[in-house]
Amino acid sequence: PATPPGTHEKREHWSGQTAFILAAIGSAVGLGNIWRFPGQAYENGGGAFMIPYVIALLTAGIPILFLENAIGHRFRGSAPLAMRRVARRAEGVGWFHVAICFVIGLYYTVIIGWAVSYFFFSFNLDYAEDPATFFARDFLQLGEPGTVSLTFVPSVLIPLVAVWVVTIVILALGLHNGVERLNVVGIPLLVVTFGILVVRALMLDGAAEGVEALFTPDFSALRDPQVWIAAYGQVFFSLSLAYGVMLTYASYRRRRSNITAPGLVVAFGNSSFEILAGVGVFATLGFLAHQQGIAVADLEGLTGVQLSFITFPTVIAQMPGGQIFGALFFGSLVVAGLTSLISVLQAVSSALQDKFGWHPRGSAVAVGIVSAVLSVIGFGTTTGLFLLDVVDQWSNQLGIVAGAVAMIAASLWFAGRSSELQRHLAAVSTLRPGRGWLILVNVVALLLLSMFVQKTTTLI
Ligand code: PFF
Repeated sequence: PATPPGTHEKREHWSGQTAFILAAIGSAVGLGNIWRFPGQAYENGGGAFMIPYVIALLTAGIPILFLENAIGHRFRGSAPLAMRRVARRAEGVGWFHVAICFVIGLYYTVIIGWAVSYFFFSFNLDYAEDPATFFARDFLQLGEPGTVSLTFVPSVLIPLVAVWVVTIVILALGLHNGVERLNVVGIPLLVVTFGILVVRALMLDGAAEGVEALFTPDFSALRDPQVWIAAYGQVFFSLSLAYGVMLTYASYRRRRSNITAPGLVVAFGNSSFEILAGVGVFATLGFLAHQQGIAVADLEGLTGVQLSFITFPTVIAQMPGGQIFGALFFGSLVVAGLTSLISVLQAVSSALQDKFGWHPRGSAVAVGIVSAVLSVIGFGTTTGLFLLDVVDQWSNQLGIVAGAVAMIAASLWFAGRSSELQRHLAAVSTLRPGRGWLILVNVVALLLLSMFVQKTTTLI
C-alpha cells in the first residue's frame, strides 16, 4: 500500500518475524501472567472468570492488538509519532501511553528486584520459618502497620539497582543486540522452566483440588460488572495493550510484514501461558490446603504480592525439593518480568528518539537512568508497598482503558482512518480482517468507555 507522507526515515528493524513474535510474547508474558492472573481469576468467580476472560480476549484483546499493530506498522513510529501521523492533534494520546509505560517501569522493577532476592533466598530456604514475618519484617523491614518510614533497606535496594543496571545495559545494546537477544533466549528458557514447574506442581498431593478450585465456576459472578471490568483489565494488562508497546514493536517490523497471523500467535501464546500459570499456581495452593487440612476456598492471601511472596514461600517450605522449586519459580518471575520491563522502556525511549532525534543508545540510557533514580526513591523505601496498589489501580485499571478509548477515538472516529487501516492490514497480512473487525473495535470502545465511567466512580 502507498505509505503516508513523512514515514520514510530509517528505522531499526527486527531481524525477522520470529524475533518480533518472541519479543511481543516477551512483553505480554510477564508478572501479569504469573503474579496477577491467578489471583484475579480466583477473586472474580474462579472458573466463571474464564468466560468473561475469553470473551474479553476475543472481542477486545485480539481486535485491538490488530489495530495497535496496524497503527504502528503503517505510520512507522513510537506512540506519539504514529498518533501524530494519524492526526496532528492526536500526538497527546501517544504521550499518554508513554506516561503510563513510564509509571509501570518504575514499579515493575521493584517486584523483579524482590524476585531476584527471593531467588537467592530459595537456595537456603531463608523464608521457610515464617514467610509472612520474613517478608514484612526481615525483608521489607516494615514498621508497625500504619506507620510509614522512608529508610532504604539494603536487601531491597541492592537487587533493585542491579535490575536497573542490567536493564539499562540491554536497552543500550539496541533493538537487535539487546531487546531481541534477551527475548530470543529468555522466552524459550521461560517456557521450559515454567513447564517443569507446572508438571512438578501437578504431582503434589492435593493438586487436583487446587486446579478444581480455579475452574469451578461461580456463575453468579457473571452478573457483577466488576468481574467483567476485571476480565477486560486483565486482558489489556496481560497483552500489553493500549500502552503503545505493541504499537512501538510493530513499528520496527519491515514494511511488508504479516501483521495478523503473528498477532494471533502472540495473543493465544500469552493466554496459554497465563492459563498454564493459573494451573501451576492453583495446583500448588491445592497442596497447601491439603497440608493444612482445609479447602482451597478457605486459604487466604491469594492475590498479588501476598501470593508470590508469602503464600508461595509457605508452600515451598513444606514441599520436598522446595529449594529447586523456589529457585525455578522466582527465576521465572525474573525472566518474565525483565522481558516485559524492557518493552515498556523501549516504548518510552523510542518516543524520545522520534521526538528529539536522539540516538537510540543515548535515549535508552537517559530513560533508564531517570527511571532508575525515581524508582529507587519511590519504591526502594518502605512506602513502596503501599504505592504499588495505588499505582496498579490507577494506571492498570483506569489509565489503560482511557488510553485504549482515546487511541480508537482519535484514529477511527476523529481522523477517519478506519478503512485505510483495514486496507493496510489486508494488503500486508495473510489473514484479512473484514468489516466485522472494525465493527467490533467500535462497539468495544463504547463498552470500554462505560467501564471507565463505572470504575472511576468506584475509585473516587
Ligand atoms: N504484559 C505484562 C504482564 O502481563 O505482566 C505487563 C505489561 C508489560 C503491561 C508491558 C504493559 C506493558 F506495556
